[in-house]
Formats: sequence, C-alpha cells, structure tokens
Amino acid sequence: MTLDDLMFKPGLMKGQRILVTGGGTGLGKEMAEGLMMLGADVYICGRRGGVLEEAAKAMMDAHPASAGGGQVTPIACDIRVPEAIHEMMDTIWADGALTGLINNAAGNFISRTEDLSTRGFDAIANIVFRGSFFVTLEAGKRWLAEKRKGSVVSILTTWVWSGGPFTVPSAMSKAGLNVMTQSLAAEWGNRGVRFNAIAPGPFPTEGAWARLSPGQSATAESRPQTGSPLGRVGEMRELANLAVYLLHPLSEYVNGQTIAIDGGGWNAGSRGFSALADWGDAEWAAARQSIQGANASDRAKRTV
Ligand code: HXC
Ligand code: NAP
Repeated sequence: MTLDDLMFKPGLMKGQRILVTGGGTGLGKEMAEGLMMLGADVYICGRRGGVLEEAAKAMMDAHPASAGGGQVTPIACDIRVPEAIHEMMDTIWADGALTGLINNAAGNFISRTEDLSTRGFDAIANIVFRGSFFVTLEAGKRWLAEKRKGSVVSILTTWVWSGGPFTVPSAMSKAGLNVMTQSLAAEWGNRGVRFNAIAPGPFPTEGAWARLSPGQSATAESRPQTGSPLGRVGEMRELANLAVYLLHPLSEYVNGQTIAIDGGGWNAGSRGFSALADWGDAEWAAARQSIQGANASDRAKRTV
C-alpha cells in the first residue's frame, strides 16, 4: 500500500493508539498498515509470535517514521485466555492508553453443522464471540475508569443478516458481536466509548481461503460464493480506508453501526455457502482433511 491508496492526509492518525487483534495477517495486517502509514501507533496481536514480528518489521520498513509512519508493536497473545488479554493491555497501557481497538481476530472453517463436535464449535466461538468480548471489556473498563474516549470496530460478515449455512459457529458468534456493537454503543456512548462494525464480503486471504475454499489459492479469481454485482472481490485499501474513517475522532457521531463493504453482494442476494448443500460425504471428507492440514500447519507456528 502507498499513501496514494488512502483517501486521507498524511499524519491524520498521529496520536492515535490502536490495537488490531489478528493484525499479523490478512485483513488485520492491511488495516494495521493503513493506520500506521497515517501516523497511528499500532499494536498487533496473535498466537504466532514470528508472524507478528515479520509483519511489524515489514510495515515499519515500508513506512519508516521519517516518512510519517507510526510504531508497530507485536504482542503474542491468545485472546481465548482472559488473563493473557489482561497482561497484553497492561503492557500496552504501560506506554499509554489505547484510543481504538479493531476486533479482527477470528477462526472459521466450513462444515456441515451436524458434523461439528462441541470442541469444533468452541474452537471458533471461543475466539470470535468470547475472545473478542473479553478484549473489548478489558479495553472498555480502562477507558471508562480513566474517563477516556475510545472507538471499537469489530470485523463481522454479512452473515449477521443473512445467516451463514455451513459456517454456523462463525455466523452465530459474529451475530453476537453485532448485538454487542449495538448494545454497548447505547450503554457506553454517554461516556465517550463508541462501537461500530464492518461486514466485509470476500477479500482473498490465505487464512480464510484455506478454511472456506479449501484447495483453492487466495486469488481474486477464486472466491467463495459471495459474488457482488461489481463482479469482483474487495480490495484491501478499500477496507483500510473504512477502518481509518471509523477510528478517527471526526467520525465520532457514527455509533452503533454495522457497515457492509461487499460491493452490494448481500443486497444482490448473496447468502454465504448455501451452494455447499450439493456436496456429499466425499467432498466434505476432502475439505475437512485439507482444512485440518492448514490448522496443523498454523498451530505449529504458535508461540502462545
Ligand atoms: C469439522 C473440525 C474441522 C473441520 C477442525 N475441526 N476443523 N471439525 N470440520 N474442517 C474440529 C477438530 O476436529 C476439533 O474437534 C476442533 O475443531 C478443534 O480443532 P483444532 O485443529 O485442534 O483447533 P485449533 O488448533 O484450536 O484451531 C482453531 C481453528 C483454526 C478455528 C479450528 O481454523 C484456526 O486457528 N483458525 C484461525 C485462522 C482462521 O480461521 N482464519 C479464517 C478467518 S475467515 P475434536 O472434537 O475433533 O477435538 C472468516 C470469515 C470469512 O472468519 C468470510 C468470507 C466471506
Ligand atoms: P486470517 O488472516 O486467518 O486472520 C485471522 C487472524 O486472527 C490471524 O492473524 C490469527 O493469528 C488471529 N487469531 C486467530 N485466533 C486467535 C486467538 N485465539 N488469539 C489471537 N489471535 C487470533 O483471516 P482474514 O481473512 O484476514 O480474517 C480477518 C477477519 O476478517 C476475521 O474476523 C474474518 O472473520 C473477517 N472476514 C474476512 C473475510 C475475507 O473474505 N477474508 C470476509 C469477511 C470477514 P494466529 O493464528 O497467529 O493467532
């Protein structure tokens, strides 16, 4: 990304301090880069310490402080563990309070719902639903106690409106975060802590494609069945610009909103993975094997 990809003036986010969960890869990394390019100090967390270090270095090498870039600090943290979140926030707050949070970390995979074990459900819900809530609570309590403003942006999907066949634990968890956004916008808005959400359509990433389109590489041509009238997938810079807008103090009056960025796919009738109803046992077995291969390969890189 270069400054020409952003619709904002250089230095716009100077003084902003933002945590992006899952900021070492995919959408989180791109939003983190957009924010730091505009001068924000950004913290990125995830379970693979090496992936985070590499991402932070790449961003800071590409956009050094001399070019207006902010600091990117990687913190290995598993958001399924409330004590680990508390420790991460202590580390961040030791440098200064956050001004914003992006709840982006997630886990997901396609599966027939009848094939899910309780552990399979928990594997997703404990990251998306429970983990994102505890990160939000940990930051929120500090903002309220210190009488500071805060802006929270949660990354959802359009499945919060349409339902998500074959991705039910994710759809249920994201729907919970959608209601968290609406509820806390009303409950904490009077104290300066606001909540919004972004519901992206398909943006090709390795993490999502390995688990939602197993066997296909994450390119603009190979996409899940979430087609948009624009005939294309999303561009990361489009998402980064929206995230910057929602985190900047000048969008303060926007509170409690979930904004789709899907080229109109949801309005045009896109409904997630319904087409997988055609799959039989053999297809599901192959998908599961491929997904579990990706899970194992990522798990081997975890440092927390
Ligand atoms: C059925 C499965 C399964 C599958 C795993 N499980 N894969 N069940 N079908 N394909 C079951 C396992 O059998 C096990 O249950 C349980 O889930 C936990 O599996 P683990 O591999 O031990 O889990 P873990 O190592 O904790 O990994 C968590 C994960 C993994 C969520 C499963 O995918 C992950 O870490 N993902 C992070 C990155 C990610 O998912 N990114 C994509 C986000 S995209 P049993 O009972 O057998 O022990 C997204 C939306 C995109 O969110 C929208 C696009 C339009
Ligand atoms: P991704 O690259 O796999 O991103 C997921 C990130 O979450 C990874 O960096 C992962 O890092 C982190 N994470 C997972 N579990 C964690 C945990 N327990 N603690 C801390 N971090 C954790 O996939 P993506 O496509 O960019 O997805 C990012 C977000 O966008 C997700 O919320 C997803 O639902 C949403 N989304 C994506 C699309 C799309 O088309 N790509 C569409 C709609 C919505 P570690 O594994 O190192 O922990």
